[in-house]
Amino acid sequence: MKIAIIGTGYVGLTTAVVLAYLNHDVAAVDKDESKLTLLHEGKSPIHEPGIQNLLDEVWHTIRFTPSASEVVPEAELILIAVGTPPKQNGEADTRHVEQAAGEVAEVCLPDRHYTLVVKSTVPIGTNQRVVEVVEDVFSARGIRGNVSVASNPEFLQEGLALQGAFYPDRIVVGANSDAAIDTLRRLYQPILEQTFDPPSEFPRPSTYHLPPLMTTDPNSAEMIKYAANTFLSLKISFINEIAGLCEEVGADVTEVARGIGLDARIGQQFLRAGLGWGGSCYPKDTAALLGVAAQSGYEMPITEAARTVNFRQRERIVEKVRDTLGTLKGKTIGVLGLAFKPNTDDVREAPALDIIRELLAEGSIVHAHDPIAIANARQVLNENDEIDNNRLRFIEDVDELSYDTDALLLVTEWESYHKLELRRIAKQMKTPVLIDGRNIYSPEEARAAGFHYIGVGRT
Ligand code: UDX
Repeated sequence: MKIAIIGTGYVGLTTAVVLAYLNHDVAAVDKDESKLTLLHEGKSPIHEPGIQNLLDEVWHTIRFTPSASEVVPEAELILIAVGTPPKQNGEADTRHVEQAAGEVAEVCLPDRHYTLVVKSTVPIGTNQRVVEVVEDVFSARGIRGNVSVASNPEFLQEGLALQGAFYPDRIVVGANSDAAIDTLRRLYQPILEQTFDPPSEFPRPSTYHLPPLMTTDPNSAEMIKYAANTFLSLKISFINEIAGLCEEVGADVTEVARGIGLDARIGQQFLRAGLGWGGSCYPKDTAALLGVAAQSGYEMPITEAARTVNFRQRERIVEKVRDTLGTLKGKTIGVLGLAFKPNTDDVREAPALDIIRELLAEGSIVHAHDPIAIANARQVLNENDEIDNNRLRFIEDVDELSYDTDALLLVTEWESYHKLELRRIAKQMKTPVLIDGRNIYSPEEARAAGFHYIGVGRT
């Protein structure tokens, strides 16, 4: 199928590469010149496990262009995968989606049928708005176009984006037209029926079952995306709230999570207590959902509380460092992990950034490390903050970072942090304090290595 994808961010690029791998004829449109330059050289602008290798394999088949008019007229299906950044009040800004829809409608041929699919995460009602934008453009052009609009929310998890794209739990399509549903069913047929040869890096999991294609109306499809993300975010906030109480009463939240997760109705996943969620989705989408609710005058106290608990985790961990060291002023704190989660260099809404800001505000010296996110963190902190560069150093070697520090604060659970030589590190610190914000070490192991160990929700 001939496909045009508008936007080459995480969602757009992953989709482009996967659909090209499935032998579709893919063109990707982006106005960002720096991204296009990289893509024209065959380099992925995003850091995602496996994406560069897959791009190498299919690059020669994908056309990357800044101009929708070059590729949209000939396409059968157009996917909009542009950003919906938060506005000042938290609501999602759909300007880029509407603009993309308008540009598409400008160049659609009057005698062809197109399926226009919104993949971006958008407030409920946006698909209807896209229909109106397209109709307005057609009437301004004086033509009767033939475009079916559909919602196809994306459930991409950073770090697992390709795995999730080849082996999704489900595919959701919200559309009022059978033609659009049929086109999307054909698009995803190799995934729905698992007829493709798996890429060597992404073998088909032996327990994987064929995913359902769920069809529904566009508003419900849009709501599914927000409700899924909000539910996951509140599952994490719930366990973090329990973790706080575990500390008060002397229970271990990792044991509690195991015990409740064994109930099939609850499940083991997303019950890891720690520093909570960051990234480009949960913070933005929970705020956007509250924005949608506020427009209807409807209160969502559970969603509000999920956010409150989440951001409180960042304050509580700084409190723990302060309480342990007596003061933060003049203390050197080694921060391990800047990305909002492992296997990505994404620092959007990352807990580490807020924690570093607070440590610096209280007079600490911060030595920060991350396997791949230092450049992004440095850029964000330098751009948005009055950072005292004398007190914030980015260090590329954990050994060097830990030397003479007063405490180590583990913020992101990178694989490499699971294998630290604790005994040696403890010896070279000024005071061997390990605040494990993701509970990756067992208290016994850390204490045996000479650390004063503090986790989250464990006494
Ligand atoms: C999420 C959804 O998983 C995805 O389906 C949606 O399309 C976009 O939002 P993502 O933000 O990439 O994806 O990351 P995810 O793996 O869900 O983790 C989000 C945050 O929650 C991370 O900061 C992670 O550290 C944190 N988390 C996750 C926990 O604190 N505890 C957990 O048990 C799980």
